[in-house]
Amino acid sequence: MIKHFLSLSSFPQSDLLSLIHRAQFFFQNQHSPEKIHHLLKNRIFANVFYEPSTRTRCSFEIAAKRLGADIVNFVPEHSSVKKGETVYDTLKSLESLGVDGIIFRHADDHIVEQLQPFLKLPLVNAGAGKFEHPSQGLLDLLTLFQEFGKLEGLKVAVCGDVKHSRVAGSLMVAAKIFGMQIYLCGPETLLPEVTDSHVQKADFDTILPTVDAVMMLRIQLERHEDLDLDPKAYHHQFGMNHRRQLSMKKNAIILHPGPFNRGVEISDDMVEHSQSRIFKQMNNGVAARMAILELIINGRS
Ligand code: CP
Repeated sequence: MIKHFLSLSSFPQSDLLSLIHRAQFFFQNQHSPEKIHHLLKNRIFANVFYEPSTRTRCSFEIAAKRLGADIVNFVPEHSSVKKGETVYDTLKSLESLGVDGIIFRHADDHIVEQLQPFLKLPLVNAGAGKFEHPSQGLLDLLTLFQEFGKLEGLKVAVCGDVKHSRVAGSLMVAAKIFGMQIYLCGPETLLPEVTDSHVQKADFDTILPTVDAVMMLRIQLERHEDLDLDPKAYHHQFGMNHRRQLSMKKNAIILHPGPFNRGVEISDDMVEHSQSRIFKQMNNGVAARMAILELIINGRS
C-alpha cells in the first residue's frame, strides 16, 4: 500500500510517537553521513510548490540529500503550467518521469486529498491552503518533545491569524491525539469556530503566564481580500514582546513557524531570545522531514 503523508489525523498516537523518535535520531545523526546517507540512496523526489516557501522546500531538499536521495525542484513559473498544464497532468507527468515521491504545496485546502487516489506514488502535503501543514506539525511536536520530554498535558497558546493557518490546523489535530490543551488568541475575526474540548479561546495576556509554549502566527495577508491592519496597534494588542515574555513561565518557550514579520506579531528582540525556539524549529524541520521521507519510501518510522 502506498504510504502518503497528508494529514496528522491519519496517524494513531503510536505511529506519530515513532516518527518523533525517528526524527530525534536524525536530529542527533544529521551530520553523520556514515549512519544515514545510504538510507534513501538512488531515490528521486520532486518538490512541487505552487506557493512560495523557504523553510519547507529547502528542508525537504536537505533532508533528501542527507539520506542519499536526489531531488528535482519543479518551479511552476518556469514550467508548462505557463502553457496551461493542470496540476493533475503535472503530477502524472512527474510520476511518468519516474520520481519516487512528490512533495506538494498548493493554496487549495483539499486538492492534495482529491489528487492522491489517482497517483501511484507517495504524496507529501507540504502545506495545503488553510487545511493542514503536517510536516510543520511534526517538527513542532519534535520541538516540544525535546523541550519537555512529553506532550501529554502541555498547554500551548496560539496567537494570531488562526483561521487561515494550516500550521494551527495541524497543531490542533496533534493536540487532540496527544492530549494537549490549545488556547486560541488574537482578533476575534481571525479565530475559527471552536468545537473540540481540547481547544478554547482565551485572552492572550490572561493565558500567557499559564502556558508551556506560545505559537505566534503571521497574519496571512495572501489569504485576505481586504484587511485593514495597523501593524503597530496589532503588535500592541497581540504581539510577542519583552513585556509579554516577562509574564511567561521561565521554562515556557516561544514558537513561530516562519516567515515572521518583525515588529508585527513578534518584536525584533524576541526572535532570538533565550526562550525562543524559532530557529530550533527550522533545524528540527530537516530531521522531521527525513523521518517523513523514510516513512513514505520504506514505511518505517
Ligand atoms: N513554516 C513554513 O511553512 O515556512 P515556508 O513557507 O517558508 O516553507
